[in-house]
Amino acid sequence: MPMNIAIDGPVGAGKSSIADQVAKRLNILHLDTGAMYRAFGLYALRSGVDMTSEEALSGLVEQVDVQVRYEDGAQKTLLFGEDVSGLIRTGEVSAAASAVSKWPAVRRRMVRAQQEMAKTADMLIDGRDIGTVVLKDSPCKIFLTATAEERARRRYLQQMEKGDETPYEQVLRELNARDEQDMNRKTDPLRQAEDAVLVDSTNMTQEETVDAIVAIVEEVYGKQ
Ligand code: DC
Repeated sequence: MPMNIAIDGPVGAGKSSIADQVAKRLNILHLDTGAMYRAFGLYALRSGVDMTSEEALSGLVEQVDVQVRYEDGAQKTLLFGEDVSGLIRTGEVSAAASAVSKWPAVRRRMVRAQQEMAKTADMLIDGRDIGTVVLKDSPCKIFLTATAEERARRRYLQQMEKGDETPYEQVLRELNARDEQDMNRKTDPLRQAEDAVLVDSTNMTQEETVDAIVAIVEEVYGKQ
């Protein structure tokens, strides 16, 4: 059985960068499942379908070809063979990913693909429903969070660095709205699995957070 680690948590908890560093330390692959929903969101945008229609999206998700490849350990997300890793990071694609990921037909297809990948290699998988659905039986689950104020503060500083001057209050408001949407979605909402270990990074540096997660993994799987 491959070593499978689940990391879930709300937006802005630093999941992607923390998961990347933990996977590097453990020398295993990191699967960012959000990138798969984003790639499908991009395809839905390009196809011009009505994203409020589950029927239209069900048809589309059956035809789509989303694949993940690794180059020097880094994830490349492919849409019909095209490397869309950069294109899926825009605000427009974020909104599309959020809209398409609500629908059960879309989730079923993505979950199946993620479970198939998890069987093939030692892998750390991050998302919203990994501990509760994708890797429901994994012995190693982490729920990574921080207070909404701290997550908003980190996002605000990141955006400022990029020249985006959205006020802190607005960043916090939008983050609370995303939390609300993710946690109240009917299908596979974001929630901490009963057997997940909670890591609250509010007062921790990135390095401390990585150390804490590596220690949890080693407790389950032994020293790597
Ligand atoms: O983590 P992210 O922001 O890249 O995720 C993009 C969107 O996909 C976001 O709206 C949440 C959704 N998502 C999901 O529903 N389930 C996952 N396992 C991963 C992401």
